[in-house]
Parts: sequence; C-alpha cells; structure tokens
Amino acid sequence: MKHRSLALLIALLAGVAIVPMAWADDPAFTDAYLKEPANIELGHKLFKQQCVKCHGKGAYPGKAPKLKPRKLTPEDVYLRITYGFRKMPPWEDVFSQDERMALTAYVKSDIFSN
Ligand code: HEC
Repeated sequence: MKHRSLALLIALLAGVAIVPMAWADDPAFTDAYLKEPANIELGHKLFKQQCVKCHGKGAYPGKAPKLKPRKLTPEDVYLRITYGFRKMPPWEDVFSQDERMALTAYVKSDIFSN
C-alpha cells in the first residue's frame, strides 16, 4: 500500500514536469494566420477527411458533442486536436503541426459548421 502511494506520487510529479515541456513547442496563433484562406481551406479539407465521422451532421448520434469552438481560444482548440481530450483522440502522430494549425484555423473560422 505504501509503495503504491509512493509510485503514484512519483508519477504525478513526473507528469507535472513533462506536460509543460511538451507544450513549450506549441505555436501561438496570429489573426493573420487564422484569417488566411489557404489555411482555412486546408483545415476544411482535413476536417472532411478525418473529423466529420464523429463531429459531422451525418455522424452517429452521440459520437461527439456538437463543436462550439467560439468558446475556445485557438490555442485550446489546437491543444485538444493535438493531444486529445477525454474521448477525443489525439492527432499528434497523424497530422503535422502545420496541418493541426490549419485545422484550428478552420474550426475557428466563420465558415466552420458541424
Ligand atoms: C472518434 C471520434 C472523434 C474524431 C474522429 C474526432 N473527434 Fe473531436 N471530439 C470527440 C469527442 C467525443 C469530443 C468531446 C470530448 C469531451 O469533451 O469529452 C471531441 C472534442 C473535440 C474538440 C473540443 C471541443 C470542446 O468544446 O472542448 C475539438 C476542438 C475537436 N474535437 C476537434 C476535432 C478535429 C479537428 C478532429 C479531426 C482531426 C476531430 N475532433 C476528430 C470525438 C472525435
């Protein structure tokens, strides 16, 4: 019992140290980037390929909640796409950073719908 709590404590401490390091590389979003049509267009294309199966109108009901990205900052959207969030899978190994940034630009754009 004692050993288990110690292991948990170590894991917690390690986690606290590792997470900010992984996040240190994450990009900042400028308005210019977010408004660039080429970025929005790339994100739209990728969203149709990979995301609508859970987030789209045609998705199985209950697969994913309707996205309300207005409540999220671009940085939050990017982090959720990259690292996943509860039942949302991570896309870090699937898409490059540029692609994940483009997805963020699309999700935050005026043409986004789901
Ligand atoms: C396997 C189904 C699935 C796929 C595929 C999927 N998502 Fe998700 N996504 C979810 C679920 C479920 C949630 C809600 C997680 C929660 O809040 O518990 C979510 C949440 C999100 C959120 C956070 C919403 C919020 O308000 O917190 C964003 C942003 C998002 N998804 C974007 C995407 C993008 C972009 C893609 C394509 C690269 C994608 N998702 C693909 C299931 C999926």
